[in-house]
Amino acid sequence: MNTIRINTSIPYDVCIGEKLLPESGTRIRAMLPGAGAAAVIADSLVYSLYGDKLQQSLESEGLSAPIFTFEPGEGSKSMDTLIRIFGFLSENEITRSDVIVALGGGVAGDMGGFAAASWLRGIDYIQIPTTLLSAIDSSVGGKTAVNIPSGKNLVGAFHQPRLVLCDTSIIRDLPADIMRDGSGEALKYGVLYDPELFNLLSTGKRDTHLQEVIFRCVELKRKAVEADTLDNGARQLLNFGHTLGHAIEKKTHHKYSHGQAVGIGMAELTRITEKQGLTETGTTERIIAGLKTLGLPYSYEGSLSELIPYILGDKKRRGTHINFIVAERIGSCMRYPVEISQLDSFLCR
Ligand code: GLY
Repeated sequence: MNTIRINTSIPYDVCIGEKLLPESGTRIRAMLPGAGAAAVIADSLVYSLYGDKLQQSLESEGLSAPIFTFEPGEGSKSMDTLIRIFGFLSENEITRSDVIVALGGGVAGDMGGFAAASWLRGIDYIQIPTTLLSAIDSSVGGKTAVNIPSGKNLVGAFHQPRLVLCDTSIIRDLPADIMRDGSGEALKYGVLYDPELFNLLSTGKRDTHLQEVIFRCVELKRKAVEADTLDNGARQLLNFGHTLGHAIEKKTHHKYSHGQAVGIGMAELTRITEKQGLTETGTTERIIAGLKTLGLPYSYEGSLSELIPYILGDKKRRGTHINFIVAERIGSCMRYPVEISQLDSFLCR
């Protein structure tokens, strides 16, 4: 097992290793000796696969483990589900000495985390990611949120987990499409900071080097989060591919998964910035080759100008400009502000 310590105001560990789920009760008990209940938030599919094992492990440590389940999918990441979670926490008399356990992908993590951030003005929570995407990104760094009709993740809070348990045997067993989804984000870390990781992924070694891939990604996320916990500077680099990606998700009504949309966003943006001389020649081709190896799409079928209304609603907008994250070459990137009035010519030049 590998452990990465995230040094935020209350430091916490990300444990990465095989068969951590059955040990979760022991580890949570050791971390929170005074807790009486561990309230589990999971979608119904994840619960049917792993809920019993988690519940048994928590109960064996004397923790009561009430479970709140919701319908799988991004559509559940809403104020409505959140209010139902508050009702569940209230019925189960969850107090400030108790803990929430978010078991699942980004939706469970975001909602469990946001419920923990706001219930009784903030209680502890633990992340147990069950997708590659949540293992390498959303379970680490304390971003929690729900969607509202005007946009994705517009209501939320920074609230760091007390522990992240990444059971690589769960990730290893994921269906191919869920694995592909997370792979786009893994490739993103490679483009941003780590040519070796990029090469590992684009030469098809993801599965044989899974623990190393997760470790490298979490280590890179650690650096970004420690440098800029509240996302005002260095952490924004993690949004590479996301401004276009989120717009594509929204415009196509989630025809593309998050990882697919981010992959398209990375390739399309790099195609533009390479043409404009901001990116080393050949980078787009390498990104596209990496996406192809991982089985991910790499081009948007429509015109990028039709994405502008969605880009303008992005929470990364700052006043009159949008900070795009631009790859200078594989392993290096920069923030690149574009005035809103110049957006059309930037994207469609
Ligand atoms: N997912 C990007 C971040 O945590 O900042």
